[in-house]
Amino acid sequence: MTRAADLSRTGARRRIAELAETIREHDYRYYVLDKPTVSDAAYDKLMRELRELEEAFPDLREPDSPTARVSGGLREAFKKVRHVAPMLSLQSLMDEAEVREFDERVRRGLEVEKVAYVAEPKFDGLSVELVYEDGVFLRGSTRGHGDVGEDVTENLRTIRALPLRLRAEARPRPPRGTLAVRGEALMRLSEFEAMNRRLVEQGQEPFANPRNAAAGTVRQLDASITASRKLDLFVYEIMSGAEPDTQWEALQALRAWGFHVERDVRRCDGVEEAIAYHAHLLERREELDYEIDGAVLKVDRRDWQQALGVRTREPRWGAAFKFPPRQETTTVMDIVVQVGRTGKLTPVALLKPVDVQGVTVSRATLHNQDEVDRKDVRVGDTVRIRRAGDVIPEVVEVLKERRPDGTHRFVLPAKCPVCGAPVEREGAYHLCTNPLGCRAQLEGHLGLFASRGAMDIAGLGDKTVAQLVEQGLVKDLSDLYKLTREDLLPLEGFAEKSAENLVAAIEGSKRPRLDRFLFALGIPNVGEHVATLLAEHFGGLDPILEADEATLQQIRGIGPEVAHSLVEFLGHAHNRKVIRRLLDAGVSPKVEKRRGPQPLGGETFVFTGGLEAMSRPEAQRRVQELGARVAPGVSKAVTIVVAGPGAGSKLDKARELGLRVVDEAQFLKLIGER
Ligand code: IVH
Repeated sequence: MTRAADLSRTGARRRIAELAETIREHDYRYYVLDKPTVSDAAYDKLMRELRELEEAFPDLREPDSPTARVSGGLREAFKKVRHVAPMLSLQSLMDEAEVREFDERVRRGLEVEKVAYVAEPKFDGLSVELVYEDGVFLRGSTRGHGDVGEDVTENLRTIRALPLRLRAEARPRPPRGTLAVRGEALMRLSEFEAMNRRLVEQGQEPFANPRNAAAGTVRQLDASITASRKLDLFVYEIMSGAEPDTQWEALQALRAWGFHVERDVRRCDGVEEAIAYHAHLLERREELDYEIDGAVLKVDRRDWQQALGVRTREPRWGAAFKFPPRQETTTVMDIVVQVGRTGKLTPVALLKPVDVQGVTVSRATLHNQDEVDRKDVRVGDTVRIRRAGDVIPEVVEVLKERRPDGTHRFVLPAKCPVCGAPVEREGAYHLCTNPLGCRAQLEGHLGLFASRGAMDIAGLGDKTVAQLVEQGLVKDLSDLYKLTREDLLPLEGFAEKSAENLVAAIEGSKRPRLDRFLFALGIPNVGEHVATLLAEHFGGLDPILEADEATLQQIRGIGPEVAHSLVEFLGHAHNRKVIRRLLDAGVSPKVEKRRGPQPLGGETFVFTGGLEAMSRPEAQRRVQELGARVAPGVSKAVTIVVAGPGAGSKLDKARELGLRVVDEAQFLKLIGER
């Protein structure tokens, strides 16, 4: 950023013009095209630089500067409507120091010691103004320009969270005459994912993120499409028509009148509590079924809000304390191909390192050739990347208008980049056809074999695995058990102690549970869950080695695909040999004695919401005793979802997947309680 103090007048004039032009272009992409080409963080930075320059050289401010209006454009297709009250935006605060400065400015302005704030989530959706006349929904509009927006009444009407008539019996009573409120239309993540899946199936472009999806949906010219894509709507401001004394009361009143108002809001006694609320929200962010991008702080007392007033288009009484962005833009330096344990070729984009939410991201998966084709990611491209929770970062979209000349489409190679064997396509995937000889596949197998849920061999990480394979010390899984201290000592990173420790850890892994041993073999489609089913059903390794597909399919939870994978894997002479060698080396999977009847064997439970008869850990223990597994989250592997009061997004997802959902009474019956 150019600092205002370092610039001459001429330099400032040039820079102001340049910034204004850039920001206008970004605004157009963001508001009109719904296709922003910079991250919010980058955009905010430009705005702040412009604002600082304009403050340093007030006479250089252009009358139509982006800082002087809430920018945007209008689509011709919608009627334009004037807002009842101008739709302002909020100043952004990026860190705690800036929040404290904001608080100081507020206190100085009011000449008071301490200010109470209401802190709310900053919803990352599409802001709308809703107008009610005598308690009846009359009109809704998007922000557009701050004063004039697009009339999207019919589309908004389709949103179930929007009350068409306010609750007349509410306390306080909803106002007569005109009431204008402001809120945010958004698409829940579960709906967003489901909708994108549908769009892709229909051969249409999916949306890049839920915000774009919400914007695109609200601005659908065909309201029936809006109706088919479920949107949600949170309301957070009374713009005119009612005058509660505080923002806190405003939120309570809005909720009483029938609006969807966030419950996780906080009345903060001073700025430190507001900072704590921001940290709390940041933690909750991953659990929420909708996107938020920060906390909004508002001076609670409305008379104080009025006293502070508005500066250009931003109120002095409020601010957005932003989260670090999840999405960033960066460039693709290269696209490489990884070969996994199963021989799958995965294209991976090597990125110019970029900080996303405090984590440096330098790689992003491109999944498979279809994904590469759909997004058309090329070396040299500028891409938007996303990091959500712990998942591997992925490329959301390519900013095509920034593509340099001379780029080429990326195509997976016809030969395995590791071993040179031919590559074959199977469904969406490209596979190396050399499972026994390909080093990458062996490394993958060893990594899984040593991992926590498998043989749990401490000290056998990826780096060591790579060295063992590279040096030819390990040619199949069973070679691990032949390793000696002397073999390991010459390897990089090994000393006496660590070499001895690893040999001991390998030795110590010789009595694994049968299910872990099965999982450790890396049989396609045999995860921990299936491995447990097999171990429980057969009680020993030998009958599993002999089972045919029909027998396997009789086990609850095992379908034809899994049965086929197993029989194929175990039918392979090389795999048989490796298993035999493992047993010969002294590996001896043990089967735990069953503790009692296993009426819930084969079931996988997920709990969501509360239970009255017992605590959740107690309930989990009970079903495990009866032979069931407990999963942390909803997936297709789950067979029963126990939903109590307050059930959240897990329940929505379970319904979507068509899983069996039971309430507490039915659950108690299942575990044999009345
Ligand atoms: S209050 C005068 N509260 O964030 C201030 N805005 O520029 C009016 N937003 O466009 C906004 N969550 O659409 C407010 N809890 C919240 C919000 C919120 C999201 C949006 C709003 C506005 C942008 C800030």
